[in-house]
Amino acid sequence: MTNHSQSSAAVVFIIFGGAGDLTMRKLIPALHNLFLDKNLPDKFKIITIDRGDYADSQLNKRLHEGVNTFSRRGKVKEKEWKEFTDHINFYKGDFVDSHTYSNLDKELKNIDQTWNTSAIHIFYLATPPSMFGVISTKLGEAGLGEDRERARIVVEKPIGNNLESARSLNQTFTKYFKESQIFRIDHYLGKETVQNILAFRFANPMFEPIWNRRYIDRVTITVAEEVGVENRGGYYEKAGALRDMVQNHLLQLLCSIAMEPPVSFAADEIRNKKIDVLQAIHPISLDEVHLCAARGQYDSGWIRGNPVPAYRQENGVSSTSNTETFAALKLSVDNWRWQDVPFYLRTGKRLSKQISEISIFFRAVPHKSFPPESTLDWQPARLVICIQPQEGIILKFRAKQPGPKLYLRPVDMSFSYKEMFKIPSADAYETLLWDLIRHDSTLFMRGDQVEMAWQILMPILEVWSNTPPSDFPNYKAGTWGPESAEALLARDGYMWMHPALLKNGEDEMAMEE
Ligand code: BG6
Repeated sequence: MTNHSQSSAAVVFIIFGGAGDLTMRKLIPALHNLFLDKNLPDKFKIITIDRGDYADSQLNKRLHEGVNTFSRRGKVKEKEWKEFTDHINFYKGDFVDSHTYSNLDKELKNIDQTWNTSAIHIFYLATPPSMFGVISTKLGEAGLGEDRERARIVVEKPIGNNLESARSLNQTFTKYFKESQIFRIDHYLGKETVQNILAFRFANPMFEPIWNRRYIDRVTITVAEEVGVENRGGYYEKAGALRDMVQNHLLQLLCSIAMEPPVSFAADEIRNKKIDVLQAIHPISLDEVHLCAARGQYDSGWIRGNPVPAYRQENGVSSTSNTETFAALKLSVDNWRWQDVPFYLRTGKRLSKQISEISIFFRAVPHKSFPPESTLDWQPARLVICIQPQEGIILKFRAKQPGPKLYLRPVDMSFSYKEMFKIPSADAYETLLWDLIRHDSTLFMRGDQVEMAWQILMPILEVWSNTPPSDFPNYKAGTWGPESAEALLARDGYMWMHPALLKNGEDEMAMEE
């Protein structure tokens, strides 16, 4: 995890897919911010490689636009941009051609000579996943992965699209790279609020004693998006919400909530504790899938007062598509801490509000000593971890309303990053790129974690692909998803709550669904 001391080693980022979306939207804005915050070493270079026939000026312009549009800092200052881009070289190269790699090898050796040092080489595969295997193999064949300390390879999710393909990709990666050189990105792990879950749980003595089945009734994890599939219809058609979000981001959030206290913050210690959670997740049998999982696809509807099309009308999407844009699951973690505490997960596109939050619902008091008229209901206390766009933590509990009558009402105690720290949080990619330079794998997924996560979802994927949905599209854009997701909780006597607000809980009663 980040400790923000300046790294002094020389570093070269080699980005495959230099003209792609990820490079423009995430990688260059993050590197630019690291540069401005003086978190990059003096000796650093970015080499982008792309197959396309682009002039350097075209690529430069594209990256410039990317930073202007997506950087947390807003528009670039031209002088700073010039200083930054002096470190970028654009290369044209075919990813399947061995010459690309031998040329790259020569170039990296030249850079080392000029700098009179041995730079760290970060090979970032910002390409379609179909290229991961060939690029990592070609890098390996060219000997570019041989220096176990200096060479690092970075891949984005999805790693495979089922257990078998993930295993095979992991085998391809490990043919030429050791596990310690492989960095599998799940950008959720780089979010401040996600990193803070461990700080909150393990840097404070008062939560751990009640963080278990004795005091916690259930946990819900919501990652809701207002956006649709945007321009990624082609990719999303083959992925769907379960593969795109649950297999990685949501299961990683679950792990942070459910893991045991680590002995240290060593990367493998944290990742071992997380894999313990994945291993404890009760395997879902094929017969149980309909009871433990719900799927949905958005119809046309309204988002923020604007009409939006149905998923089946989006670019690159089949008009008869059965791909799910919403998934909800009920999972059980079979261990001493969590036995019988359900974990409900939901994620979807074109939902009512962009919000990611985790709610920990505490058990009701064992005995209600207050007279019934003192409270309208007995909503138990709830701890809400707000991941985004609000960043903070809210504890919702009951307090006595001032006045002669004994009347209890819900109130909030809250911590907001914005109010407390007054600076915008770094983008997840800044943290992750910084960790890459420092060779810290804590916030990256290990191969066995990825495979275990696939294993959990395989029965659902199997049943869903064998039984096409009869009711798609089954939720209107701008709502909270299909009824089957409500039923998932209703069967256990619960309901999803509306997102909590990071302010005093005046209107909580009105907000609860
Ligand atoms: C990506 C998914 O991993 O995460 C996208 O592929 C999704 O479909 C995105 O929109 C959400 O990330 P964030 O950081 O905006 O919540």
